[in-house]
Amino acid sequence: MPTCLITGANRGIGLEFAKQYAADGWKVIATCRRPDEAEKLNALEGEIQVHPLDVTDFARVEALARKIGGEPIDLLINNAGIYGPRVVAYDSIDYAAWAEVLRVNTMSPLKVSAVFADSVAKSGLKKIVTITSQMGSIADNGSGGSYIYRSSKAALNAAMKSLAHDLNAKKIAVAVLHPGWVRTDMGGSGATIDPFESVAGLRQVIDELSLETSGRFLAYDGREIPW
Ligand SMILES: NC(=O)c1ccc[n+]([C@@H]2O[C@H](COP(=O)([O-])OP(=O)(O)OC[C@H]3O[C@@H](n4cnc5c(N)ncnc54)[C@H](OP(=O)(O)O)[C@@H]3O)[C@@H](O)[C@H]2O)c1
Repeated sequence: MPTCLITGANRGIGLEFAKQYAADGWKVIATCRRPDEAEKLNALEGEIQVHPLDVTDFARVEALARKIGGEPIDLLINNAGIYGPRVVAYDSIDYAAWAEVLRVNTMSPLKVSAVFADSVAKSGLKKIVTITSQMGSIADNGSGGSYIYRSSKAALNAAMKSLAHDLNAKKIAVAVLHPGWVRTDMGGSGATIDPFESVAGLRQVIDELSLETSGRFLAYDGREIPW
């Protein structure tokens, strides 16, 4: 069966990915910041390894790759993300917080992808997906605000589009995926779908991802989102 590596797998969408892929018989390399406190992840059944990983700690990202060794990774899911301060006003931005959100949402997925690209290249499926947000769509920004989160995901999308071009040579398909508005700690209880529906849809989109469709911005229901 294929192997997937997931960041931020202890709760929310990441946990649901681990649950569904493990239930389907995949080998799941689940990472999270504090495995000792990841009760729900540790309780999942199936072939699951849990490794500590703060995605902003690039030395640890490289150490994890060494620890896993040359094992092929069919699917890398960059899921870990933060929203940052919910302030919407342009004149009260916390710039230090903005830098931290860029580290987590934008720089770390590229670093993780770069470090594990060779492991993905030697697998059967060869796919890297990153969970972005429709809020990162500049074309779709009809309401303004959310400067920090929007810009972190827009920049993430730009980086992943370049990565899709560059990893074509290694025959790796790359996509940025919007999970919908999901009832997680980030999405809140008023969100429209639950993690099961989001991840079931995302898995279908990932199944259909190929080198021919690499470099796209897609929603969990298969809809193409304008950049
Ligand atoms: N929920 C939505 O409606 C929605 C909509 C669009 C996009 N998204 C995106 O979907 C992804 C998952 O979000 P979610 O809704 O599942 O959010 P969540 O419930 O808040 O979970 C976020 C996950 O990211 C992890 N994380 C945060 N910073 C990290 C770091 N530095 N290193 C490693 N892990 C880190 C968290 O770990 P800790 O437990 O250690 O904090 C947690 O596992 C994010 O990229 C988010 O931007 C969500």
